[in-house]
Amino acid sequence: MLKDKKIVVGVTGGIAIYKVVDLVSKLRKQGAEVRVMMTEHATKFVTPLLFQEISGHKVASTMWSGNDEFNVEHIALAEWADLFLVAPATANILAKMACGLADDLVSTVLLAAKKPVIVCPAMNTGMLENIATQSNLQTLKKRGVTVLDPEAGPLACGVTGAGRLPEVPTILAFLEGFFAQREGDMRGLKVMVSAAGTREPIDPVRFVGNRSSGKMGYAIARSASLRGAQVTLISGPSALTPPPNVTTIQVETTQQMLDACAKSYPEVDVVVMAAAVADYRPRDVATQKIKKQNEDALTVVMDKNPDILKTLGAEKTHQFLVGFAAETQNLLANAREKVQKKHLDMIVANDVTMAGAGFNADTNVVKFLYADGQVEELAKMSKDEVARELLDRVLARRKH
Ligand code: CTP
Repeated sequence: MLKDKKIVVGVTGGIAIYKVVDLVSKLRKQGAEVRVMMTEHATKFVTPLLFQEISGHKVASTMWSGNDEFNVEHIALAEWADLFLVAPATANILAKMACGLADDLVSTVLLAAKKPVIVCPAMNTGMLENIATQSNLQTLKKRGVTVLDPEAGPLACGVTGAGRLPEVPTILAFLEGFFAQREGDMRGLKVMVSAAGTREPIDPVRFVGNRSSGKMGYAIARSASLRGAQVTLISGPSALTPPPNVTTIQVETTQQMLDACAKSYPEVDVVVMAAAVADYRPRDVATQKIKKQNEDALTVVMDKNPDILKTLGAEKTHQFLVGFAAETQNLLANAREKVQKKHLDMIVANDVTMAGAGFNADTNVVKFLYADGQVEELAKMSKDEVARELLDRVLARRKH
């Protein structure tokens, strides 16, 4: 999403500048073209030379190119950019922007800017909470400026509170989300993805579960979000970090997953059930840890769980429903039957006994089956690639 984007980074005088050095470097690594402009105060923290080396371009910091000569070239920055990112944004620059002041290069370029502006406020908590700063932020928001809220934590001034510039990965994810929602081919679509395995408790310390890692579902959620979809990820327990810009709902049991899915379902356009849902749950959940018995065998009676996808399929109105079929035999026949029984538009079938497929692997070998009987076989590929291929098909088929 950031490839070939032209970003003007306005650096103002705050201690969080050190993060922005890394940010500019990472933006370039992701293929963005970056031009840096600095306020005079910012140049007291780091020299323009550092940003010049990192960005690969001369840094703009003054309207006067020498000998008091007015340099209009820098105003061209305002025309050049796809996006203006002010980071760190001090209380001072926010106040100037809110008032429309243009008394140095950064404020002048921002006043002339016709493309979107994102500000990343970073300052002492007192300054941030001051009614003047809050009112300036409100004014800027009302005028269409996007504010990436500062985080709470220990600040350079010794206090702990709100005002920290978010870490670089957070800012990058925010920017990706920003562009995705403007340009991604799934923008405007609401997608619900379920992932990982559900767990059914036996007693307070034990459960019945499965080997699903959540990798496939998380890859789909991340991919859809990077394409601009509004994604809700409903996940069973997983060691994975939820993708940025995705609303993640953590659940444990099948019933909890069903409740969460049913709640979001009426609103969503696309459902991808990648979760490995427990089909049965222990009938009686012991309130205390079950002690070892004298008998050699222990019997746990299990009751059938609701079939989430079947329930959703029966209530389908406009949603495009995608299921998964992890099989160890009769792959196509079993998958076909699931498409029919659960009223699916598409199913992703994989033989989990194959090398490089299924639970916990980073790759998958899948076939796509559709409600009209068509079958597509895909080569072995990473789960990220499977996610991309799957979403391509969803987009193409939804249009029909
Ligand atoms: N699924 C579900 N609720 C269940 C069981 C499965 O929503 N109680 C969903 C899965 O998330 C998957 C699809 O249904 O998208 C197929 O799951 P799978 O376990 O392969 O099939 P089952 O219907 O459970 O049939 P079986 O276990 O007999 O193969």
